[in-house]
Amino acid sequence: MDSIYKALAEELKKSNYTVVMTGAGMSTESGIADFRSRDGIWKKYDPMKVATVNALENDYDNLHGFYSMRDEARIQRKPHKGHHILAEWEDKELISSIITQNVDNFHHQAGSRNVFEIHGSIDKFRCKDCGEPSDRESFLGKEPCPECGGKIRPGIVLFGEPLPEKELYGALEEVKKAELVIIIGTSLTVYPAASIHSNTDGRIIYINDEYDGHKKFDMVIEGKVGEILLEVDKFL
Ligand code: APR
Ligand code: ZN
Repeated sequence: MDSIYKALAEELKKSNYTVVMTGAGMSTESGIADFRSRDGIWKKYDPMKVATVNALENDYDNLHGFYSMRDEARIQRKPHKGHHILAEWEDKELISSIITQNVDNFHHQAGSRNVFEIHGSIDKFRCKDCGEPSDRESFLGKEPCPECGGKIRPGIVLFGEPLPEKELYGALEEVKKAELVIIIGTSLTVYPAASIHSNTDGRIIYINDEYDGHKKFDMVIEGKVGEILLEVDKFL
């Protein structure tokens, strides 16, 4: 297995512009469940009931309960070694940016700076009606918006909502510049996130513990994210 870790390290050293794309599989080793693997979140909750605009408007208590639970889970946990390695690779100018579907803010917490949070962040809150910025305590306490009395929502992208333009546009620009895109811990099933990498003319490497062979990549490394990043880091 050493050779594939060494090969990825060589790709990183050779590339002048490397972009990393991460999904929920990047955070499971921090104790945050992903969505679609065996004990994923969507095996226990129906996303249509808790993560849509319709749920926000017509079943706020259900949505509030779901995101309070997810916020609670995230607050008690922290980035793992893999997040810190990616931050170190940015410091060493081995990678230029991270595009993440994750809302846990772990890349920032680990020290990564150039991060595109294309599905928003559970660290941010706002009034669902007037957009007035709010905070975690007001959301958890179901306090009404001081400006208009509206309900407070988390700053994450719900199903059926557009992705934040600045983040998405920035992510596409990054991938277009990339000589190497490394995709880590995502099932690549939710669009448009799942197609961003196809905008690169560069090489594409997929790191995941499950690979069904359907999508083609220049290199696939199957296994646990934390272990793979640790092994590759040994060659850098
Ligand atoms: N190491 C490697 N791969 C892992 C690990 C791990 N430790 N843990 C989980 N995985 C893999 C799973 O096998 C799965 O293929 O990561 C992938 C995670 O896929 P999903 O659960 O579908 O998560 P993701 O692709 O990020 O979902 C995208 O869907 O529900 C929406 O907005 C939500 O951002 C999310 C989006
Ligand atoms: Zn308001």
